[in-house]
Amino acid sequence: MTARILDGQKIRDEILAELKDEVRLLTAAGIRPGLAAVLVGENPASQLYVKSKIAACEQVDLASALLTPPATVTTLELLAVVEDLNRDNNVDGILVQLPLPPQVDTKRILEAVDPAKDVDGFHPVNLGRLASGRPGLVACTPAGCLEILRRSGILIEGANAVVLGRSDIVGKPMALLLMHANATVTICHSKTRDLPEIVRRADIVVAAMGKAGFLQSDWIKPGAAVIDVGTNTIKDAAEAERLLHNFPARLEKFRAKGSVLVGDVHPDAVNTAGALTPVPGGVGPMTITMLMSNTVKAARLRRASLRISPTQSTATAR
Ligand code: GUN
Repeated sequence: MTARILDGQKIRDEILAELKDEVRLLTAAGIRPGLAAVLVGENPASQLYVKSKIAACEQVDLASALLTPPATVTTLELLAVVEDLNRDNNVDGILVQLPLPPQVDTKRILEAVDPAKDVDGFHPVNLGRLASGRPGLVACTPAGCLEILRRSGILIEGANAVVLGRSDIVGKPMALLLMHANATVTICHSKTRDLPEIVRRADIVVAAMGKAGFLQSDWIKPGAAVIDVGTNTIKDAAEAERLLHNFPARLEKFRAKGSVLVGDVHPDAVNTAGALTPVPGGVGPMTITMLMSNTVKAARLRRASLRISPTQSTATAR
């Protein structure tokens, strides 16, 4: 059996089209949702991420602003930047790109963001709202995984779901989202015993532990839906061979380029899973999409007193 490939790019395009419609309605009602990105210093990977986020804003007609404090910024200076954005009524979403330089107290900065504008969903208030089932902003990667499952018609209610990884920004919110969707959820981590046995009972597996090709094909119940959150760049030839020996075309690409991107799920899982997100092209495209969705949702929730009630897209409803 070969798994159905869950195409994150196709789902992203669907959601962005819906968001564009919603932004048009809000803008016509006098509300132009806006995202402010704070990019500290000149980390090339962060610059690339932020550039993609600003480009996505343009794609759905969201207003965007980019602030670029220098790498030498202090915690207090950055707090002042965040507080200005908290007060700015044209800013619906605030994104502080991570990592921050070592002299900056990252937790203090993230907790200074107004939870109503916390479109990354990193603020403990938003994690608490999610835990207690109240409306709030959910971290983008787990929200994107849920959208993939929903839009692919995968039955969550009553399913046995296993989440591998317990981070505050992926594993924990993912488990809560699945639980609220009426799955029976097990969270696994580095100290879990008999992991293959637990995974074998799962109808839905979300792999988010950050270990290349860790989840083995024969751990997966035949037909299960597997969501692979991992993005691991492999540069070692023996490792590439171990993971891609059944994929000669990908191995060839590795040899030409010297690196390859793989998930936390062994690529051979395509032969046991019923549905599988590819890496790249599965969860990856959804993260920025959900950032756009959260910005529109933040605009709607925060400015609700203006009694604007455009049609909610399923991407932003919770
Ligand atoms: N750095 C890498 N990924 C992310 C993300 O999703 N949000 C923020 N703020 N920084 C990041």
